[in-house]
Amino acid sequence: MKFFIDTANLAQIEEAQALGVLDGVTTNPSLMAKEGITGKDNILKHYVDICNIVEGDVSAEVIATDFEGMVKEGEELASLHPQIVVKLPMIADGIKACKYFSDRGIRTNVTLVFSAGQALLAAKAGATYVSPFLGRLDDISTDGLNLIAEIRQIYDNYEFDTQILAASIRHTMHVIECAKIGSDVMTGPLSSIKGLLKHPLTDIGLAQFLADYKKGN
Ligand code: E4P
Repeated sequence: MKFFIDTANLAQIEEAQALGVLDGVTTNPSLMAKEGITGKDNILKHYVDICNIVEGDVSAEVIATDFEGMVKEGEELASLHPQIVVKLPMIADGIKACKYFSDRGIRTNVTLVFSAGQALLAAKAGATYVSPFLGRLDDISTDGLNLIAEIRQIYDNYEFDTQILAASIRHTMHVIECAKIGSDVMTGPLSSIKGLLKHPLTDIGLAQFLADYKKGN
């Protein structure tokens, strides 16, 4: 399972990268705004800065909502750096743009996916990644993990190459359950990655080992 971090915060990306388990980064316009990155030039530079920290894929989202605008913007984003994946919204023009890019070998991430039918369309359009937002489904009392399982079954039935990128991850249990289902990727906050480290018995055991060592040395 690949681990992506879902942030535009460079310090957090560096911290996850230093841990040695990071496979990529996802961003979105809200995450960019949260870091105070505004204006086209600053946003494009920030994507390059992120690419220079990590070795894996970096999703950069288009703002246009029409086919021509998405193609223009997506081509500009893709030309920034070989690690860039063009992130497209799950709307009709987004699917058309996804097909356009996949036909030309440009990698895509279809975002804002909330149903198995949407995920099926994204795969048919040749998406590299599909991003079901499981946390936002959980927020409205709908089982987000069930959606991940449905997409896994559909993609396996037809051997689609599209990778399931479980998004809107909120905590460690989301990560673990997605891994059990067989999600290809998860993208979450740094806390969802670092949280996997924690177990009190590890801390107790290590303290005991060190204390016993001290007794004999
Ligand atoms: C995915 O690519 C999105 O950036 C993200 O996972 C959305 O998560 P949120 O629901 O926590 O905003």
